[in-house]
Amino acid sequence: MKTLIFVFLCLVFTTNTSSIAKISTPNAKSKCWLGHWSVYIYNAMIDPITVHVKSGDDDLGVHTLAFFDNENWSFCENFWGNTLFYAYFNWNGTRTASFDVWKYDFFKYCSGSLVNPQRRCVWLVRHDGFYLGEDLTPFPNGWHKMHDWS
Ligand SMILES: *[C@@H]1O[C@H](CO)[C@@H](O)[C@H](O)[C@H]1NC(C)=O
Ligand SMILES: *[C@@H]1O[C@H](CO)[C@@H](O)[C@H](O)[C@H]1NC(C)=O
Repeated sequence: MKTLIFVFLCLVFTTNTSSIAKISTPNAKSKCWLGHWSVYIYNAMIDPITVHVKSGDDDLGVHTLAFFDNENWSFCENFWGNTLFYAYFNWNGTRTASFDVWKYDFFKYCSGSLVNPQRRCVWLVRHDGFYLGEDLTPFPNGWHKMHDWS
């Protein structure tokens, strides 16, 4: 239902603007019907961490992130609004966490809007937990704490 409302609003907001033309230009980043999302996960700790991102369709593999390395990927939001990416985190083999790193509800923490189909979510991994924001702004401005390490 959420997605239908979203699609409807997109149509309403774009009908009298040039956005429809923008979405349909043959630009690799603009081939999505709905939002084109990019998600970044930054390790803001001196210790390396391993990150394993998956969705129902994709397995991005296990990656080690050194200090301030990032893992990033892009995708088109699907019509049904059920796109989901989750991740497993491991810090030193002693601390772990796993949770959804992208779902539709996160739009409120991320950049872009209904009329701006290029959207971005940024995760910051810190010793005191996991923060979500729309850009790499100096901590803590613009960051929302979402999870703790367990
Ligand atoms: C995104 O990840 C790729 C490797 O998959 C890397 O080459 C690129 O630098 C990363 N983007 C940014 C902004 O760091
Ligand atoms: C991780 O390992 C480093 C170096 O071995 C150590 O300094 C740090 O305290 C460890 N952190 C945790 C949470 O175990």
